[in-house]
Amino acid sequence: MKNVLVIGSTGQIGSELTMKLRRMLPEGNIVAGYITGAEPKGELLESGPSALADVCNAQQLAEVVDKYNIDTVYNLAALLSAVAERKPLLAWNIQMNGLINILEIAREKNCAVFTPSSIGSFGPTTPHVNTPQDTIQRPRSMYGVTKVATELLSDYYHIKYGVDTRSVRFPGLISNVTPPGGGTTDYAVDIYYAAVKGEEFVCPIAAGTYMDMMYMPDALRAAVELMLADPSKLVHRNSFNIASMSFEPDTIYHKIQEFYPDFRMRYEVDPVRQAIADSWPDSMDDSCAREEWGWKPSYDLDSMSKDMIVCLKKKFNIQ
Ligand code: SER
Repeated sequence: MKNVLVIGSTGQIGSELTMKLRRMLPEGNIVAGYITGAEPKGELLESGPSALADVCNAQQLAEVVDKYNIDTVYNLAALLSAVAERKPLLAWNIQMNGLINILEIAREKNCAVFTPSSIGSFGPTTPHVNTPQDTIQRPRSMYGVTKVATELLSDYYHIKYGVDTRSVRFPGLISNVTPPGGGTTDYAVDIYYAAVKGEEFVCPIAAGTYMDMMYMPDALRAAVELMLADPSKLVHRNSFNIASMSFEPDTIYHKIQEFYPDFRMRYEVDPVRQAIADSWPDSMDDSCAREEWGWKPSYDLDSMSKDMIVCLKKKFNIQ
């Protein structure tokens, strides 16, 4: 990994992953790929090259790959679960037609490809507790359908053409830099913003709904460490369960009250997100990732909450 194209570099994961890769690989070209309307700004724009890289425009992607001699593509373009339910055809187009564009270019130009999967790749018939690496995947959301197909297509290109595809099933990702847009797990980000700003939080997910969550620094490390892992050790490829914490809304609410005793949360459940959340695992078994490439999370709910609050106070200049 030396010259990397990050597609979706201004999104929740991309904005932080691009900067991490630039710090890690100062000799290489870490290209911030973006689409019109979501251009990089500030440090992301100034610290390295950027290029229009629309997943739906194969020629544009191929030109960027050639120009910067790209060897690795992080394909982070996706509509999250709740938005994908509202715009299923657009989700299909970005997630599937975009992916096949990237895989074809990777096949021709010999690039490694990381396209994240998610807890959303599971469905109501999946075992919900300690969800195994290899298990039933029959999701009923468009997001989930595209994520299972992403896993299968990525494996297909590896098996049939030898393309070096690897990926993880991300839990809900919690970060303080770029907000997520329209996911089912977003509440676990929004709740910190409300607490730090002194606002009441209205929770769209019902009490008792457990989902896997992960702090962004761990997620970024997973995305990098998997791509650097020894391929001879990988039994699986697309995609590895990775986990660090699982909680339900009351757990995170009470954790935040340890820092802000006056913080209040009430429930106003969104039926679309709740149906999606109910179909997802309560907690995933990530032992294959631990065994095959040494995955190990660093943050739990307590250490993540401390860091989130410090970072958000700084971001909003709150004492
Ligand atoms: N965070 C995503 C969502 O909620 C799931 O991977 O849509």
